[in-house]
Amino acid sequence: MDTAEMCKANLVSKSHDAEVSWDDEFQQLVKTFPKVKSWAGNNLYFYQGFWCPALVLKSVISFQKHFQALDSDVIIATFTKCGTTWLKALTFSTLYRNNFTKDENPLFSFGPHELVRIFEYDLYLNNPFPDLENASLYQPRLLSTHLPYASLPTSIKDSNCRIISICRNPMDMFISLWHFTEKLREDKLESVSLDEAFDKFCNGIYGFGPFFDHVLGYWKASQENPNKILFLKYEALKADINSHLKKLAMFLGVPFTEDEEKQGAVEEIARNCSFDNLKELEVNKKGLHSSGIPHTDFFRKAKVGDWSNYLTPSMVERMEKLIQEKLDNSGFTF
Ligand code: A3P
Repeated sequence: MDTAEMCKANLVSKSHDAEVSWDDEFQQLVKTFPKVKSWAGNNLYFYQGFWCPALVLKSVISFQKHFQALDSDVIIATFTKCGTTWLKALTFSTLYRNNFTKDENPLFSFGPHELVRIFEYDLYLNNPFPDLENASLYQPRLLSTHLPYASLPTSIKDSNCRIISICRNPMDMFISLWHFTEKLREDKLESVSLDEAFDKFCNGIYGFGPFFDHVLGYWKASQENPNKILFLKYEALKADINSHLKKLAMFLGVPFTEDEEKQGAVEEIARNCSFDNLKELEVNKKGLHSSGIPHTDFFRKAKVGDWSNYLTPSMVERMEKLIQEKLDNSGFTF
């Protein structure tokens, strides 16, 4: 064996040892966390103040321990069912628009979740040291997470990387999550009633919950550091997508030029990323996301106020009280 081969063998054995000892450490750690079953049938661990899906707990910790953010990184950080798919499509198409011609947007061939990969469900899932250099199709890197602000890796908070977050009315978010989890339920026989799921939702027990802590975490951070964190609302984007796209481009440091605006670049991105357009693309009608979820499950109705078709008056009253209680004195409103 020559010197180079010896060094390589040494490195491989060291990284193997590191993985084995990290596995042991993780097994010990996990025993200390409270555990519950979610209404979707999967286990959740209470970790750092949020309910972490058991499937991703290990990758969340790897992400927190090892990820080194670059100042140029752009991170989409959202609560589930608040418009992540839409925000990924909008940010990808805006940030990278000079990398492709308007007919060749990779969004037409790949799902938004393939183009903007997620740390905990994808990159770190079975690999504590994923290849992050090639995790994004173009530079700067565009990646995503569902972690609450408080639990982000320190380097994301301390570097100059940018974060974009989106929130949604909790009643619509809950109904969206309800439909999503019903489709994904592992044990189809053990269906949970809407009432029971709603009760768990109000108690904050679902993946990455409580919702209000998540939303307020990013909202407060965006108030303190608006150049680093852009906080958006699903309903506001629905009401006026063009002005939000301009705001997004400005935040990303790639404002639309006068010429682009004259040529309708803003409207074109809005159209390409619209629900009706994305839902009908072949790529989103078939195939699976890396987590095994069918692409089509990310597109349902995309309506504001759909909750009124499902929630009873007493559920609405309970949620309104909860909203009032959770947001009291925060300055934030839905
Ligand atoms: P509904 O279940 O209310 O229809 P996420 O992407 O965070 O998982 O959120 C999914 C929700 O966003 C679903 O809401 C889905 O239909 C909606 N959605 C997906 N793509 C969208 C788009 N391009 N524009 C607006 N809403 C979209």
